Amino acid sequence: MTGMHHMLVHFPLGLWALATLMILVGALLPGRLAELSRAALLPVLVLSLLGALAAIVTGFLVWPLEASTHSPLTRNHILMAFWSLGIFTMLTVLVWRAGEAAFDGARRWVLVLLALIGGLLFATAGTLGGHLVGAPTLFSDILGLLGWEVYTTFYSPLWVVVVMVIIGIAAGGLGLKSQRSSG
Ligand code: HEM
Repeated sequence: MTGMHHMLVHFPLGLWALATLMILVGALLPGRLAELSRAALLPVLVLSLLGALAAIVTGFLVWPLEASTHSPLTRNHILMAFWSLGIFTMLTVLVWRAGEAAFDGARRWVLVLLALIGGLLFATAGTLGGHLVGAPTLFSDILGLLGWEVYTTFYSPLWVVVVMVIIGIAAGGLGLKSQRSSG
């Protein structure tokens, strides 16, 4: 059964990487390739969410929760999987609701920012999965430079919490401001 998780994780990871690339191409480049990227983005995002759900369900089915949550490595792997799912769900809803206007004007930068954050998060989820199967990558050294020691860090470093709170307050403020100016 462990093979199921190993096999299924390739769907969200591959499709999230593809969606990130399509958003960058759709937002930053002119021409036919950018048009195609924008037009095909929604199905890719929807498929990525289905793949992620399959990966998460198999993760929980295969390994006992007690075992998973008692290792910093697996705990953070699960957290990163859920953060990635959250960001790409947000992107899917935005692209779905905005339709053809999703890339219009300044809106594209919201997609680009979310895609870049999502890219870092799913790369971290995959990297931690790699550590779990004994296949570490150099990406962990970058995490190490940020204060995240993959085998022992259970928590977000304080500066990450501070940055998250600032981003949350800024996003709330921006939302209120644009609601007032459109209403
Ligand atoms: C979007 C969700 C997820 C992604 C993209 C993901 C990704 C990965 C990757 C890339 C690996 C390495 C597999 C390999 O190299 O063959 C892995 C392994 C692993 N994952 Fe996940 N994972 C996800 C969700 C979960 C969840 C929810 C759990 C647990 C509840 C979990 C538990 C594990 C464990 C325990 C391993 C090590 C497998 C082993 O030792 O054989 N994963 N995952």
